[in-house]
Amino acid sequence: MKLTPLIHRFQEVFETEQKPQAFFAPGRINLIGEHTDYNGGHVFPAAISFGTYALAIKRQDKKIRFYSDNFPEKGIFESSLDDLIYQEDDDWTNYPKGMLLYFKEDGFSIESGFDVLFYGNIPNGAGLSSSASIELVTGVLLETLYQLDVDRVRMIQIGQKVENQYIGVNSGIMDQFAIGMGKQDHAMLLDCDTLQYQYAPIKLANHDIIIINTNKRRELTESKYNERRSECEQALADLQKELSINSLGDLTPEQFEQYRTLIKNETNQQRAKHAIYENARTITALDKLKAGELQAFGELVNQSHISLRDDYEVTGIELDTIAETAWKQEGVLGARMTGAGFGGCAIAIVEKNHTKAFQEAIEKEYTKIVGYEPSFYVASIGDGAKSLHLGEES
Ligand code: GLA
Repeated sequence: MKLTPLIHRFQEVFETEQKPQAFFAPGRINLIGEHTDYNGGHVFPAAISFGTYALAIKRQDKKIRFYSDNFPEKGIFESSLDDLIYQEDDDWTNYPKGMLLYFKEDGFSIESGFDVLFYGNIPNGAGLSSSASIELVTGVLLETLYQLDVDRVRMIQIGQKVENQYIGVNSGIMDQFAIGMGKQDHAMLLDCDTLQYQYAPIKLANHDIIIINTNKRRELTESKYNERRSECEQALADLQKELSINSLGDLTPEQFEQYRTLIKNETNQQRAKHAIYENARTITALDKLKAGELQAFGELVNQSHISLRDDYEVTGIELDTIAETAWKQEGVLGARMTGAGFGGCAIAIVEKNHTKAFQEAIEKEYTKIVGYEPSFYVASIGDGAKSLHLGEES
């Protein structure tokens, strides 16, 4: 993506001839390890080349002026460094405002404001973490404009804090971590309990990762997400009556089978089963990918979807239609939902010379069953949040 048109737009909106500095943070997909982050388990996400751009110039006073090229009709929002409290009317600017507030609370010195233009090309409502992308692009912007020495993991944690405490969405750390730490052509295995991580090159031979957007609006996501979290917390509390564990991620599938009846409620048992088996699958998936055992990797991806469908119950007709149709197509190594579920996107690992037939088959079946079309994107795995240099494409 070329920066020049965005620079011109910035100059026009803020009536200046000065050149802004530019920043980028990606969106993310998750290869495997779903609904494990807040259960102290492992995740295996990667940053994608879609993301959020921010162009900014420091000001002399305490004003911050925000503009989004995605919502030009909303115009410029104005805030002050002295008043960074969440306000519903401030709309999307609450994400960067939250980052500013928590940077300041962390002791980082930000004494003057800035003008900023945001532009994002992550498909709207697709569950590819556009909000974490806005948080982290703001993080690198603040780090650079104010020459702050910010540990990257701390920046990621501040992003999660904005999501949890400022915005009020009770998500885990996967999205901010993937977006803050992404590396081109690599996925990362993250232990969400210790925050230890390792990169693994995504070597898929002659396969592409196709992102399939259900195009379903995700109204219920938040309440259902919180419901799953509390079901897992109840399961953990039951287990802790007998076992000294800190999270579901501490148990192996074998231990779970031994102790599962400690969990009183059957639904909660099912939820815990998913979290624990999914964690084990995720760790195995890294080994399979590293060893080039692509069939085995794909099989784990499929099992992940089945578990999310049957035990965790976060898929729905849209995601199931995509995954189940994908499994039947030639050249498909694996397919599953990615992200929170209940809509959003699925991913499929498809042999390059079968991608066209794959898309046609999915589109036909999906439209027949769901009533509207899905969208397709070939994922390219890019870097995490960073400063951009003029002329750089991302
Ligand atoms: C959302 C949350 C993440 C994670 C996934 C499910 O994307 O933001 O923290 O819990 O759902 O794996």
